[in-house]
Amino acid sequence: MKLLDRFTMSSTVILNARQLVTLSGPPGPRVGPEMRDLSIIEDGAVLIKDGLIECTGTRQELEPLLTESVEIFDAGGRVVLPGFVDAHTHPVFAGNRADEFELRAQGVTYQEIAAQGGGIRSTVRHTRAASLEDLLIAGRKYANWFIRGGTTTVEAKSGYGLTLEDEIKILRAIKQLDLETSLSYVPTFLGAHDIPDDYRDRREEYVQLVIQEMIPFVAREKLAEFCDVFCEERVFTLEESRRILKAARECGLGIRMHADQLSLSGGAKLAAELCASTADHLEHTDAEGIAALLQAGVQPVLLPGSVYALGLTNYPHAREMIDAGLPVVLATDFNPGSSPTTSMQMVLSLASTHLKLTPAESITAATINAAYSLNRGSSIGSIEAGKHADLVVYDCEDYRELSYFFGIEHTHTVFASGHKVFARG
Ligand code: NIG
Ligand code: FE
Repeated sequence: MKLLDRFTMSSTVILNARQLVTLSGPPGPRVGPEMRDLSIIEDGAVLIKDGLIECTGTRQELEPLLTESVEIFDAGGRVVLPGFVDAHTHPVFAGNRADEFELRAQGVTYQEIAAQGGGIRSTVRHTRAASLEDLLIAGRKYANWFIRGGTTTVEAKSGYGLTLEDEIKILRAIKQLDLETSLSYVPTFLGAHDIPDDYRDRREEYVQLVIQEMIPFVAREKLAEFCDVFCEERVFTLEESRRILKAARECGLGIRMHADQLSLSGGAKLAAELCASTADHLEHTDAEGIAALLQAGVQPVLLPGSVYALGLTNYPHAREMIDAGLPVVLATDFNPGSSPTTSMQMVLSLASTHLKLTPAESITAATINAAYSLNRGSSIGSIEAGKHADLVVYDCEDYRELSYFFGIEHTHTVFASGHKVFARG
């Protein structure tokens, strides 16, 4: 429960939404043509009670239900959507890597920077040196960025500590941010994000540390719901990833994976073999990998922001995935290296220009499908009775403008669990 929710709440009605983009539909993530159906109510209204959505309908349908005690919010003919659910982020870290951004602009690659001790390991050094309070100060700033961009829930990975103590520090920071900010966090343990410097010559010992100490501790203390691994050449091999993720499953954690990001390393197939909740990135996944994901019911989480920010062109084969019937998810991958953005609006734009998703497919991928990938399909991701009142009013006349007018923050007002948590101006 959020600190904010301890106060008694009154009822609110949002009236005068030119398009109330509800995404209501049968339970389950959306696939194929369903991804284009946003269940829009024109001149829509939403009644909110105690932080939850009581009902939706047209203004005419809801007006008779309104008593004097219901507070009215006039959406002014704007567009209303569910809050974005960003299902892949790394939002707790110290420092940033603007220096590496400059190097990449001069032609040095992400992998070359990592091989020279930069990249993830650079952020690990800064994060280890930071106190919990330092991480909270930075984390609050990024939480505010997410909220003002229309995101109300994020999946949040650790992974910049790589010692038991530092990974716990990050996961505690995530817990604290969940409690005190208006953004909701779903924590994921990513102790297998890189091999720390002092284990470079004895990597098996680090894998053992992750399996035997970190995962059992994190699971026992309920510090995370999921476990993730960066399965990649020169990071964690397929076999190491398999062992780590199996150990996580035995301790009761769900499974997500960084798969086939920089090379076709077989990550998608491993995610399928393990029936993971998600396989993320997939820039190099081929038709066989796509078929394996489909067969195993693994949701692809696509992160075009990281391809864009690394100046690459190998966007994942999203169209093939949707046409094959996969319930695709879109996320920012917010992190200080490969994807320094919290903007789901930017991700929607990239999804249409580079992944060839329609604006409607992108919105489905960024809301209801993302919610299902985090086991929260029945509580967030759409505007339906009984769900959290996480709603965003955008200063647009049509939902397609969100990704069409890119680089502009369209957010007008953000509600999280029925509280107004951001209002422009
Ligand atoms: O998803 N690939 C691994 N992890 C992040 C990058 C982290 C970093 O560069 O700091 C990603 O791209
Ligand atoms: Fe990532």
